[in-house]
Amino acid sequence: MCGIVGYIGKDNAKKVVIDGLAKLEYRGYDSAGIALLDRGNLEIEKIAETEDKKKSKILQLDEMVGDKYKDAKVAIGHTRWATHGAPSVLNAHPHISNDGKVAVVHNGIVENYAELREKLLEKYNIHCKSETDTEVIAQLLSVFCAGGMNPAEAMLEATSMMKGAYAIAAIYEGDETEIVGYRKDAPMIVCHTDEGSFIASDMTAVLKYTKDVYFLEDDEMVICRADSMDIFDRNMNKVQKKAFHVDWSIEAAEKGGYDHFMLKEIHDQPTVLGDTLSRRLTSDGSIKLDGIKLSLEDLNNIDKIYIVACGTAYHAGLIGKHLIEKWAKIPVEVDVASEFRYRDPLVDDRTLFVAVTQSGETLDTLMALREAKSKGARVLSIVNVVGSSIARESDDVFYTWAGPEIAVASTKGYTTQLMCLYLIALHMGLLKGTITDEYAKGIIGELKAVPEKVERLLEKERDIAELAKEIYKKELIFYIGRGLDASVALEGSLKLKEISYINSFAIAAGELKHGTIALMDKDTIVFALATQDELAEKTLSNIVEVAARGAYVVAITKEKNEFFKKESDRVLFIPECFDEVSPLLSIIQLQLIAYFVAKEKGENIDMPRNLAKSVTVE
Ligand code: AGP
Ligand code: GLU
Repeated sequence: MCGIVGYIGKDNAKKVVIDGLAKLEYRGYDSAGIALLDRGNLEIEKIAETEDKKKSKILQLDEMVGDKYKDAKVAIGHTRWATHGAPSVLNAHPHISNDGKVAVVHNGIVENYAELREKLLEKYNIHCKSETDTEVIAQLLSVFCAGGMNPAEAMLEATSMMKGAYAIAAIYEGDETEIVGYRKDAPMIVCHTDEGSFIASDMTAVLKYTKDVYFLEDDEMVICRADSMDIFDRNMNKVQKKAFHVDWSIEAAEKGGYDHFMLKEIHDQPTVLGDTLSRRLTSDGSIKLDGIKLSLEDLNNIDKIYIVACGTAYHAGLIGKHLIEKWAKIPVEVDVASEFRYRDPLVDDRTLFVAVTQSGETLDTLMALREAKSKGARVLSIVNVVGSSIARESDDVFYTWAGPEIAVASTKGYTTQLMCLYLIALHMGLLKGTITDEYAKGIIGELKAVPEKVERLLEKERDIAELAKEIYKKELIFYIGRGLDASVALEGSLKLKEISYINSFAIAAGELKHGTIALMDKDTIVFALATQDELAEKTLSNIVEVAARGAYVVAITKEKNEFFKKESDRVLFIPECFDEVSPLLSIIQLQLIAYFVAKEKGENIDMPRNLAKSVTVE
């Protein structure tokens, strides 16, 4: 989950690595550290617990290092999301071998670290100092080098003994000529420019220097030098790769004057939703799905679809199920990736597996994809990060084109995933003839109007900020809805939980009376979504039921439904739209609620506790 940056070249390596880490801080932020070669000496600086919990660890690391190591031309750095061992200085990366010769940063988990520790102790009398799984890597590398191997050979030997997921970068005392990197099941990009060579977990760390990056595949090793960079397979054959050109601007990965990335990304939505849609429409307004090669024959060979994802992307998948089943009449199951993988799912070559993921690196989703592929399924992925692992391993890729999403809480990632699912469902329906051209044009017209409607909702964000002041001290908040609204409720609830730490549940409104209504009392807040014309009256009855138990009800419905004012304490309106399209509008209100409640509580919105943006561990 963490962020890794390595640099070797002409520039001030400390500065390059710390700047890069600042761009990757969203990947993990409980501690941070840097290792440098200063005139050949291996120097390490780390930071963990600090008094100012909200101040960026990278900024504090930068201040701590100050002007030291100005001449260092080789460095590796890390911003951690602890899996093994508390977030302390001792456990922070880089980890150094006991002989002080090797420094390592690592993203992932060494699953057999306990066994390797024992081996190090028994065979070499080496005691690991930290609680991490990572330290064994540094110790193994040093043992193998002491035995006569060069750094590349040592890396191959150490990784042959390791189980789990790892992206590693290592430097060696006295050797200012290279950084050795290795990848297995954890993301790693590399690039080379006139300034030198770079290793990073994510391209945002290097956008400043280049937009052409190489993705390491599993079991590839890179040797970065100041004037060259080579990628090898495990047999030490050089691997020739094509660079990926990344279309993101540096500004897209900056806050652009907003207080938080999350608010900026909420405000990006009118633009990115427009982009995601317009790239897939021809001049006469019909759909052109460039990334997808699915033909009618392919669809006729499919018995069912599995949409598999995690968290917010899973919630987008739930909406996708409604749309595909309604428009293309193909049965769809939606599953969380961590469950799908281990339950021996009924997948075969007549299954279409759809992975939904912003980062394209979520390990649970990647592993579920591999499981489905091994059983013969065709794989279509809806991905934001171009060239990410999931994109590379899919038969068809449909990019969301949301630009970099930095805030841990996904906003534009979700709405652009929805936009893609609308287009895919329409495309399938048109191919199969289960919807008419005219019907599809009607929906496309509605989708085209979404950016402007989102804009109108954002103009009224002050109202939501006021509402947040009324509710931010509450301890229990429910989200209810029926049909598509029930899926949006799940996403609204997750947003609030993630960043405000308020206990919150989402439940299908009709399910309340089967148990959960027992929790309702005068201290409960209920956000009731009622945007579906046919179901609005039913949800209104549920509102009356919870209001009767004293709950404070905020209804979210279409502008025409003025009558909701009578039964609810507050009503937030969304512009008129077809029912199918309402999730793209109602979620904006819920994103803003989560944001302003967290702001009112003074929480660290972009980097909520215990979370990280890209979950590359199981
Ligand atoms: C979203 O707000 C969450 N931080 C999280 O649930 C996220 O959606 C999930 O981890 C999946 O990530 P992905 O889209 O990058 O695969
Ligand atoms: N497993 C390692 C640790 O706990 C690496 C975690 C990370 O990816 O940040 O230190």
